[in-house]
Amino acid sequence: MLMLPKFPQTKGKKTIAVLTSGGDAPGMNAAIRAVVRYGLSQGSEVYGITKGYSGLLEGEIHPLKASSVANIIQRGGTILKTDRCLSFYKKEVRREAANILMRKGIDGLVVIGGDGSFTGAHLLEKETGFPTIGIPGTIDNDIAETDDTIGFDTAVNTAIDAIDRIRDTASSHDRIFLVEVMGRSSGFIGLQVGVGGGAETIVVPERHESFSKIVKTIERGVKRGKTSSIIVVAEGHKPGLSQKMAENLSRRGYIAKVCILGHTQRGGSPTAHDRMLASFLGASAVAYLLSGKSNAMVGVKSDKIILVPFKKVIGVKKQLPRELLSMAQLLAT
Ligand code: F6P
Repeated sequence: MLMLPKFPQTKGKKTIAVLTSGGDAPGMNAAIRAVVRYGLSQGSEVYGITKGYSGLLEGEIHPLKASSVANIIQRGGTILKTDRCLSFYKKEVRREAANILMRKGIDGLVVIGGDGSFTGAHLLEKETGFPTIGIPGTIDNDIAETDDTIGFDTAVNTAIDAIDRIRDTASSHDRIFLVEVMGRSSGFIGLQVGVGGGAETIVVPERHESFSKIVKTIERGVKRGKTSSIIVVAEGHKPGLSQKMAENLSRRGYIAKVCILGHTQRGGSPTAHDRMLASFLGASAVAYLLSGKSNAMVGVKSDKIILVPFKKVIGVKKQLPRELLSMAQLLAT
């Protein structure tokens, strides 16, 4: 069960704004709802910015009421829409963003997103003094200094549900299935889905698994009577990895099929876990912002909500627990 910290004293009323940025993640709406409702409960005014930093630059900033966020806790995606805004990497663009916010009378910005979005928020505050606070929202769970990110649990459950279905047809046809999950540079989804889905082997960007080792694992299974296998492959940086592996397996006489789960993992109704996480992170972000804390991210460590400076988070590679990977392999053989 998540534990809330003792929040510092609120320093008067503030006007705050919230945006979602980067890839969407199930539970972002629950976080927006919490930001709005907790902010209003503290006497603040709350604005929603549409389409991330791009919308901010276009002045897409609108007041939100308690009723604006009714009936969204169960919805996937983000009612605020999102974007990957490349121009925000420019200093003069961030300066313009701060001016827009100040002209609107806004005192602080809540950014729900991942590493790139936090980089924008951190630089905005560092260069202009405009207070920002981050909420980790990404299905990848690849943000340092937090055990969990909004959307990860839902994405993992969606992928496991798909694997359960794939297993039925894989065993009916005696086939190998390579199931590709998301994660360009991180294998957290791959690891969790591989263990929970009972995969024979898990291929993640953090560990280079040689093709011959994968084939050996499959052959070991065949020797003890297995007629079908599931291999979980994180997408990695180069597209087409699972397809290449399937072609290789086919050349060795196996029937191997590929199923790319892709963006199905980003949609759908958030799990109870993600709704709880998003609700408490959303409220905590506002509590900290109203007490004068900023240039930091709210996160979770051992079920406790914590505040971590952006400087300790941005660009830091979150390590995949390798012992879990080895254990996964043991359990699969
Ligand atoms: O948001 C994270 C993520 O879903 C990664 O897992 C994936 O590699 C990437 O975004 C896909 O991005 P896009 O939706 O822009 O194709």
